[in-house]
Amino acid sequence: MTVVIAAINGKGGAGKTTALMNIAGEYALRGGSVAMIDMDARNNLMKWWTDCQEKDAQPEGIEVYSHKTARGFERWMEGNAATFDHVLIDTPGEDTSLVDPVILAADLVISPIQASKREVMGAIDSFESMLRVNETRGRKCRHGVLRTRITVTVRHTELYRKVRPIIEDKVGTYLFRTEVFERNVYKDIHNGIGTLQMQEVTEAIAKARRETQALVEEVDALLAGTAVAGHAA
Ligand SMILES: Nc1ncnc2c1ncn2[C@@H]1O[C@H](COP(=O)(O)OP(=O)(O)OP(=O)(O)O)[C@@H](O)[C@H]1O
Ligand SMILES: [Mg+2]
Repeated sequence: MTVVIAAINGKGGAGKTTALMNIAGEYALRGGSVAMIDMDARNNLMKWWTDCQEKDAQPEGIEVYSHKTARGFERWMEGNAATFDHVLIDTPGEDTSLVDPVILAADLVISPIQASKREVMGAIDSFESMLRVNETRGRKCRHGVLRTRITVTVRHTELYRKVRPIIEDKVGTYLFRTEVFERNVYKDIHNGIGTLQMQEVTEAIAKARRETQALVEEVDALLAGTAVAGHAA
């Protein structure tokens, strides 16, 4: 069965594209076939892909497609999704008209956040959209909030401490235990040098790789229904 994962947060710059690149790289490394769909008019993902091609650094096992309309996306899904193990959908930070069709196709929605109020609000909006689509269309899509660009400073903020009680207790969705730290390599991969998993393993890369492996394990557990909110250390 094809697993469909979408990154959605209506507030731009939260780390959607980066998270999907890393997850795609991990699945590809495990030998899976991955399709990534760039639905963002700014084409960040597609640009990364063509840059990778120019630098002869296109990852094996990953294909990137571009669809900017719900129609085009739905047609592609109907005709092609089944031929891939994973379909990862990158959505724009603003255009909300694409949210429902993407959720309708997804098994899991990941909403990345940095520790800012507007991004937490954006993640909550995405969760509520998912609940509405699940309810009206009889779907069982899951949702998780992913903290990204974490630094020591961020960890000392009040909002950071409040994120878990807000997301898991008040809102009632899942907060990934894995946090994505602020790391240069996550910026560097945007320059068309392939995926994180293709980089020569230095100490810094090894840390990013471990973080990504933990994230993907959690993604798989969430999809399998074995990850439960509030039950981790
Ligand atoms: N964990 C991280 N560490 C360092 N830099 C990061 C990290 N995550 C994202 N970035 C950087 O932050 C910027 C925004 O990230 P990204 O493009 O993934 O967000 P996005 O949610 O896709 O944004 P948009 O809504 O604009 O598409 C990029 O320049 C990226 O390199
Ligand atoms: Mg993006």
